[in-house]
Order: sequence, then structure tokens, then C-alpha cells
Amino acid sequence: MRLLVLGTGVMAKNQVANFLAIDGVEVVGAVDTDLARLTEFADHFHIEKRFRTLEEAIEWGEFDSATNVTPDRIHYATSLALIAAGKHVFCEKPLAEHYDHALEMTEAAEAAGVINMVNLTYRNVAPLQRAREMVLAGELGTIRHVEASYLQSWLVSRAWGDWRTESRWLWRLSTGHGSNGVLGDVGIHILDFAAYGAATDIDHVFARLKTFNKAPGGQIGEYLLDANDSFTMSVDFTNGALGVIHATRWATGHLNELKLRIYGEKGSLEVTHRPDGSDLRGCFGDDIESATWRDIEVPPVLTNYQRFAEAVRTGKQDDPTFRHAANLQKVIDLAIVSERERRELNLLAAQEQDSAPDKRIPPLTVVV
Ligand SMILES: NC(=O)c1ccc[n+]([C@@H]2O[C@H](COP(=O)([O-])OP(=O)(O)OC[C@H]3O[C@@H](n4cnc5c(N)ncnc54)[C@H](O)[C@@H]3O)[C@@H](O)[C@H]2O)c1
Repeated sequence: MRLLVLGTGVMAKNQVANFLAIDGVEVVGAVDTDLARLTEFADHFHIEKRFRTLEEAIEWGEFDSATNVTPDRIHYATSLALIAAGKHVFCEKPLAEHYDHALEMTEAAEAAGVINMVNLTYRNVAPLQRAREMVLAGELGTIRHVEASYLQSWLVSRAWGDWRTESRWLWRLSTGHGSNGVLGDVGIHILDFAAYGAATDIDHVFARLKTFNKAPGGQIGEYLLDANDSFTMSVDFTNGALGVIHATRWATGHLNELKLRIYGEKGSLEVTHRPDGSDLRGCFGDDIESATWRDIEVPPVLTNYQRFAEAVRTGKQDDPTFRHAANLQKVIDLAIVSERERRELNLLAAQEQDSAPDKRIPPLTVVV
């Protein structure tokens, strides 16, 4: 795979370190509108071809795949340009700022027949994959209740850097700069974590979003800090279970922690992922009576990066697809409407009108 890196910021460093560890993957070019970042990045990874615009890179053309690691609002136009040039695209999450764009990107990629995947990073968490297998194998019986949380503390701590003094953090706090706040940023991760782990989809949503005042006048320079910092969501899953999903950047004491608890009639599972590792615990059989939880051994899994490289090599599409990420984007869009209108929204009623399984979530017409 001859890979182009589009956007050379924080996440691109992480991605390229992963891609370069895969046999057969070459990073052949890098693009960034910011010359200083581009130079530092390309020097660090010994990438010879450097471009200030995607158009120049496409004109050069000597790559077959691209990873799109630009800020959220840039994903749409740039991914469409890559798809139009016939390139396979690995796009960062969230796929787009809203469902309509995400759907357009999905349809363009499918029509062009290019491999399209979205970097829902927590698919790389082996205990999540094992939990899903156990649910699908019926080991938990009927699932009744699901709890999922994504906790970060970067609005409180300075462990990753300081948004008060470093402008690179500020687009994430501002809707005018293309952010849907914590909901759009890590909400998509925890929605995927919950639904993928519990092996089901979401069909009803009621959400509350909150933005806390963090600076004088709620603004730093050109950045109005109006994007949500915390959300809580109650959901119904298509398997009949009820769920609570929440995320915040104000979870003092939690740098980056995802937790999923799945409660079934025959047993329960708990997946935890933190920067220092992940684990899976379960309570089954006689242990249910004493509420005893035991660690479950989990084999390693392939990463999204490895699976994208393999999909490009074999020409066989793998998960998570653009279409899957677009469907999650629909839940995010509905959560925003739910907050605005303070009512529960039903995805399922509209889904039944279109029985094609891959098109079950409708365009942004809210059906209640
Ligand atoms: N999957 C994950 O776990 C994960 C983690 C962090 C970030 N992300 C996602 O990765 C993306 C990038 O985040 P980041 O933290 O690296 O941001 P960043 O701001 O550090 O880097 C983005 C880079 O893109 C460049 N850029 C902007 N517009 C461009 C354009 N038109 N063409 C080329 N380059 C352009 C910027 O100059 C910058 O260097 C975001 O979508 C974010 O949500 C995903």
C-alpha cells in the first residue's frame, strides 16, 4: 500500500507510527496547509514528498490510499476529492459534521468501489471484540441493560496540554470551527463501543447536552467556546435492551477511560479501557448468586490500521465502514435535535419504511 497522509497533526503521528509497523505499507507523501507542521512531521518520518494542498498531491498521484487526519470539518470535501481520484480512504472519526455529508461520502465511496474505513479506534480494544463474540454466542442470554461511559478530564487537567493557552485545542470547543463538542468528538467512539460490544443498534434516543462557561465571555480569541462539554443519553437498543451512554471532558481524575457494562439474563460483562491497558471481567453461572466477578483472558486482535492495509491488499471491504459511521452520525444528529426539542426521537419508525439493511437510518427527517 502506497499511503498519503493528509493532515500532519497529533493523531497523524500516532497513525503513521502504526502504519509504518505493517509489512508492505509505505508512507509516500504528506500534506498539510501548515508548513511548519508538515516539515517537522515529514522530517521525523523521512517522508520525501510534501504538499501544501491535497490538489497538488492528487495531481502527483503516485499513491493508492490516503489517511485523512485533518480536523473534522475538513473530512468531507477532502475525502470526496480522494474518492473522485479513485483512492482508498481511511478517514478519522467523526466521518463528517452531520449525517447528510456522511451519507454523501458513503455513497460516493461505494459507487467508486474504493475501500472506505473510519478510524473508530476502540475497535482495537481486544476485550471489546471478545465481549461482542460472547454476546453473539448467546453466553449472556437476553441483554436487558447496557451502561457505557467515556470519561476525559482535559478541561480540568493539563496532562495532554493546556487549552487555556494552546490554540490547537480550541477548534474542539467551538461549533463555528466544525466541532460537535464531546458528542461529536468522543460520542461517536462511545456509541460505537456500546452498540458494537452489545452487538445491537440504537433505535430511540433522548439526550441532554451541556456547555459550561470556561472563559470570560465564553470566548478565547476567534473561538466561541459553545460546543458541548458533557452529554447524557438514554437509548433503546434494537435488541430490546435499555441503555445509558454518557461522556464528558470534566471527569476529574480520568484521563481517558471507556467503560461498557452489558447485563444479560445469564451473565454480565464489563469492558474497561484506560491509557495503561484494557480488561474484561464477567459474572456468570453460580457467581451470579454471590455477585463474584472474574477476569476473562482475551487474545490480541488486529488493529484498524492492519485491517485497512489488508482490505486494500485484497480489495475486500472491512469494518468500520463509512456507512456504519454515517449511521452513528445520525444518532449524534438526533441527540442534538433531542436536546433542542427536549423529546425522545425514534430512528426505528423511519427505518421500517426502508427495509434495506444497509440503509436503515434515514436522512435528517426526524420521525417521532
Ligand atoms: N481515532 C481517534 O482516537 C482520534 C484521536 C484524536 C483525534 N482524532 C481525529 O483526528 C483528526 C485530527 O485530529 P488532531 O488531533 O490530529 O488535529 P490537529 O489539529 O493536531 O491536526 C490536524 C492537522 O490537519 C491540518 N490541516 C487542516 N486543514 C487541512 C487541509 N485542508 N489540508 C491538509 N491539512 C490540513 C492542520 O494544519 C493540522 O496540522 C480529527 O478528526 C480528530 O477528531 C481521532
